[in-house]
Amino acid sequence: MKEFNVGIIGATGMVGQRFAVLLENHPWFKVKVLAASERSAGKTYKEAVGTRWLIEKPMPKAMEDMVILDASKDIDKIAEQVDFVFCAVNMKKDEIKALEEEYAKHEVPVMSNNSAHRFTPDVPMIIPEVNPEHIEIVAAQKARLGTKRGFISVKSNCSIQSYVPALSPLRKFGITKVLACTYQAISGAGKTFETWPEMVDKLIPYIGGEEEKSEQEPLKVWGRIEGNEIVKAASPSITTQCLRVPVSNGHFAAAFVSFENKPSIDEIIDIWKNFKGVPQELELPSAPKQFLNYFTEDNYPQAALHRNLENGMAVSIGRLRPDTQYDYKFVCLSHNTLRGAAGGAVLMAELYAAKGYFDR
Ligand SMILES: NC(=O)c1ccc[n+]([C@@H]2O[C@H](COP(=O)([O-])OP(=O)(O)OC[C@H]3O[C@@H](n4cnc5c(N)ncnc54)[C@H](OP(=O)(O)O)[C@@H]3O)[C@@H](O)[C@H]2O)c1
Repeated sequence: MKEFNVGIIGATGMVGQRFAVLLENHPWFKVKVLAASERSAGKTYKEAVGTRWLIEKPMPKAMEDMVILDASKDIDKIAEQVDFVFCAVNMKKDEIKALEEEYAKHEVPVMSNNSAHRFTPDVPMIIPEVNPEHIEIVAAQKARLGTKRGFISVKSNCSIQSYVPALSPLRKFGITKVLACTYQAISGAGKTFETWPEMVDKLIPYIGGEEEKSEQEPLKVWGRIEGNEIVKAASPSITTQCLRVPVSNGHFAAAFVSFENKPSIDEIIDIWKNFKGVPQELELPSAPKQFLNYFTEDNYPQAALHRNLENGMAVSIGRLRPDTQYDYKFVCLSHNTLRGAAGGAVLMAELYAAKGYFDR
């Protein structure tokens, strides 16, 4: 694979910092540009981040003295230097939509962590093991935007990245309804226990907008391309409750599921164990070898023990058993800032790279 030059838009933020660390020694992607708001522009990365560094690993040495560009005003300059960008910015939804389209119109593909374009009908929302075929909608998006190589692709919300992968290979049994209660880590709110000490011994039964995302996004991921858009799947019906819990990293879900043609427990576990998606077949650099991991111990998986499985890119599942109201229930876990945010976007970019979408 040839090497691609990359920009991180929102490099000073929590997700941007994760991108910086994940891309430090990436075999295909080389970070050429760091960009953020006008508050950071003109400063070195080290100066701009200051005491805001939130990742357990240190800032990559080679990036410390890179001068931050202005994500909005310097688009021409950025477009000249990169083959594509990762984008994770904290702005109003309309502003993010406009900014990402501006990059695409400058012929820069955008791998987005933002939610702004998740329901734009010709913008694919990719979990690479689940719906890699959705990247084909990019041709329709380019036609709408009038671009040759510029386009936007988004990843889904971190809350769905455990139960949607676990349920996806079971869709052939006709999933009729799903209930998922998520228990979400504080890093999902951009926080640590140092920056949010009040969260110790606390549980907050509300995360703004999260339940809507958790119920609607799976239907787009499970949708199909029809003409110039991705049409959402009509089923299953999904209901969720999303809680913030005092865990540093790792989003849990307690999931309940019913089927038209109920498989056996052994069948389900066998499907999970043998699951291989396109990233595994293509041996993409960030792809976990074993995406879905089933644990037989009653007290597994656990956030602290299993969130970093396969560099935080695997999904851990346990406690599959019959339920009195649904066919089955189980628990599952994924690392929210790795698989659920920057890592998932890097894997998505690897998929596009392998399929030639970043070629000139
Ligand atoms: N935290 C998570 O786990 C997570 C997971 C999935 C998705 N996301 C999404 O990723 C995005 C970023 O989240 P985050 O937690 O990394 O946020 P964050 O820590 O608040 O960082 C926000 C970034 O956006 C930049 N920014 C703010 N206003 C800007 C402007 N007007 N123009 C250009 N850049 C601007 C900031 O630059 P300055 O430093 O210069 O202000 C900073 O680099 C959000 O859309 C969020 O919903 C977050």
